[in-house]
Amino acid sequence: MDGKYRVAVVGATGQVGTLMLQLLREREFPAREIVPFASERSVGRELDGGLVVQGLSDDAIQGYDLALFSAGGSTSGEWAPRFAQAGAVVIDNSSRWRMQDDVPLVVAEVNPDALADHHGIIANPNCSTMQMVVALKPLHDAAGIERLVISTYQAVSGTGKAAVDELLDQSHALLHQREIEPPGAYAHQIAFNALPHAGSFGPGEDHTDEERKLINETRKILGDPALAISATCVRVPVVNGHSEAVNVQTRDDLSPERARELLAAAPGVTVLDDPGAALYPLAIDASGKDDVFVGRIRRDPGHERALDLWIVADNLRKGAATNAVQLAELLHERGLVHAQGAPAAA
Ligand SMILES: NC(=O)c1ccc[n+]([C@@H]2O[C@H](COP(=O)([O-])OP(=O)(O)OC[C@H]3O[C@@H](n4cnc5c(N)ncnc54)[C@H](OP(=O)(O)O)[C@@H]3O)[C@@H](O)[C@H]2O)c1
Repeated sequence: MDGKYRVAVVGATGQVGTLMLQLLREREFPAREIVPFASERSVGRELDGGLVVQGLSDDAIQGYDLALFSAGGSTSGEWAPRFAQAGAVVIDNSSRWRMQDDVPLVVAEVNPDALADHHGIIANPNCSTMQMVVALKPLHDAAGIERLVISTYQAVSGTGKAAVDELLDQSHALLHQREIEPPGAYAHQIAFNALPHAGSFGPGEDHTDEERKLINETRKILGDPALAISATCVRVPVVNGHSEAVNVQTRDDLSPERARELLAAAPGVTVLDDPGAALYPLAIDASGKDDVFVGRIRRDPGHERALDLWIVADNLRKGAATNAVQLAELLHERGLVHAQGAPAAA
């Protein structure tokens, strides 16, 4: 490698980490060295391409320019500030830092200028938020969104690899008329089912944390803390690719035709919208691709200034790994790969 940056990938053995390593290579990110980190369980493991997994320690994290994290909130809470203090700029996929005021929450196509305010840690939004705001941004700019009503249909890969194995194991057992193991990843059987319980309910809470993330992160990224949002997040037995039905109410009039034009011209968006020919976005088609796909663009018959959309993307790619690598590319292009210390502890 002949690039200028030394890059750490923390959580490199996981679904998102594996993709981040692949994308850094495929997109020819100017790295001179990429070092994978994971838990103690994986230290010494050789990954595809010959990289050997390292363990996190104060000595091991010295000398990096960038650190891309996808190892869960507690690992990010403990190690992202240490990487930042050691001189790296951290791009974090977990929810740990997203809502902190001095941490920019950035989607490459939506609010890239927020990167300039970083203090060593930059957050990637939740996967459901990410794909939705890519599609909403051009509509917001054109007509001003005042209310969203969202229902998600989220794939099990969003929960982690263990949940993918659980869906496949349950499906296999049920198709062979065998008893399933007690559910581990979710409160109920996920195979052949739909769970109105994506994320978890805190004590006394009537929304899941996933629904709160969708509401709060969308407001932060679009810069409108008062945006009215209703969200129901549903886990469905899809391996990969989140789908979302979104009702968008705007301040100014916006026709479905104009929305279709705006979306067709938007970066990172592909419009697939010919329902008579059974053409609309599908999770199985979006999986493995980097774009956000939008279809079923139509007037809400119940409101003259509302549209309905169907938004689909690969939650591991644009929902996590692709955006993280795009942010690294933007930091490089804008000369923002420089240490800023670390944000204040939350
Ligand atoms: N899946 C998605 O669609 C999605 C979307 C957006 C954001 N995210 C976020 O990305 C993160 C990873 O998701 P994933 O689906 O890739 O999960 P995953 O497949 O379960 O991978 C988790 C990774 O974290 C590592 N890890 C776990 N505990 C660790 C520790 N104590 N120290 C160092 N590394 C540790 C694991 O290493 P070992 O292999 O050694 O256990 C593995 O590399 C999560 O924070 C998740 O919220 C996921």
